[in-house]
Amino acid sequence: MTDTIIVNNELSPEEKYRLLGKQLRSLLDRKENILSNLSNFTAAIKQTFDKISWVGFYLYDGQKLFLGPFQGKVACTLIDMGKGVCGTAAMRRQTVLVEDVDKFPGHIACDPESRSEIVIPIIKNNDLYGVLDLDSKELNSFNKTDQKYLEEYCSFLSSEII
Ligand code: SME
Repeated sequence: MTDTIIVNNELSPEEKYRLLGKQLRSLLDRKENILSNLSNFTAAIKQTFDKISWVGFYLYDGQKLFLGPFQGKVACTLIDMGKGVCGTAAMRRQTVLVEDVDKFPGHIACDPESRSEIVIPIIKNNDLYGVLDLDSKELNSFNKTDQKYLEEYCSFLSSEII
């Protein structure tokens, strides 16, 4: 386990995701506490991508989503299934990519400055574990490349770490 990560801003977004993916594999360790792993996971993502204003987990307690480890401003602590972008991704068990949060009915504005968002569900042994939520202050910040790598990271989390 290493406790620093390298960020190279000369790389393309795809190359940055690949470099971060490799580093997450040595940063995270299933022998560590899950909160430590999830916390470092959010920090490593936030450190790598300047466009991210908030990144964190909402974890499923069997009824609702509650705020987990995150990086960014304080946020709402509970989200109902089916509500907002997080609750929608959790209920559908599918990634939801929102180019403009003002056009997503029911978007929950924890941070009024947030303009776009992506939420990836985390499924462990067919059960919903929670979601990974990323916000940006820019419109249209997230695309299929973000989706592809963030989904890969989340499946690594569910298969190797959680
Ligand atoms: N915008 C989210 C709420 C969580 S915050 O973005 C941190 C939503 O609509 O579910």
